[in-house]
Amino acid sequence: MHELEQNIDHILLTEEQIQSKVREIAEQISKDYTGKQLLLVGILKGSMPFMADLMRYLTINAKIDFMSVSSYGNGTVSSGQVRIILDLNKPIENYDLLIVEDILDSGATLSYIREWLSIRKPRSFKIATLLDKPARRKADIYADYSCFVIPDEFVVGYGLDYAEDYRNLPYIGVLKREVYEK
Ligand code: IMP
Ligand code: MG
Repeated sequence: MHELEQNIDHILLTEEQIQSKVREIAEQISKDYTGKQLLLVGILKGSMPFMADLMRYLTINAKIDFMSVSSYGNGTVSSGQVRIILDLNKPIENYDLLIVEDILDSGATLSYIREWLSIRKPRSFKIATLLDKPARRKADIYADYSCFVIPDEFVVGYGLDYAEDYRNLPYIGVLKREVYEK
């Protein structure tokens, strides 16, 4: 048992549910990107487990790269301000970009990234997100591939953090409110 499991209210998505859905999405992406120049761009750090599983379930070739952005600080509500901490350092004109993100929440992060990268004219630009919380959307942005639509609760695990902890839980759980409300 994970040492922080006592802080989890309940499990929202089990390892098995996550794996089977990621595999299904990977099959769809493999079909859609056949004959294209797929470049997966993982948004660090939250997308790491999703990226690692997704790329291994693909049956087509894919190049990978990473960006790192920050918007959250240590709270559970987005600051709305996005900063690029690590950028792509190669031209992207010849690539079909698929951004790989842990969760689409207000949409501030991904709409900023979309603006930031579209200037460099990738061949195409799409978004794959593990989780989608449409209830909190503020920006006009949607996911092209989304594994799970979830209710407006703060979740951790499988890459998602609270104050940088819980990322290595193998499942996704709802964090007990008392953990962040005190
Ligand atoms: P957005 O810019 O509001 O769409 O937020 C996206 C980022 O907020 C994600 O990449 C996560 O790092 C973080 N985030 C949003 N909701 C949650 C959550 O429920 N748990 C953990 N992190 C979250
Ligand atoms: Mg985060």
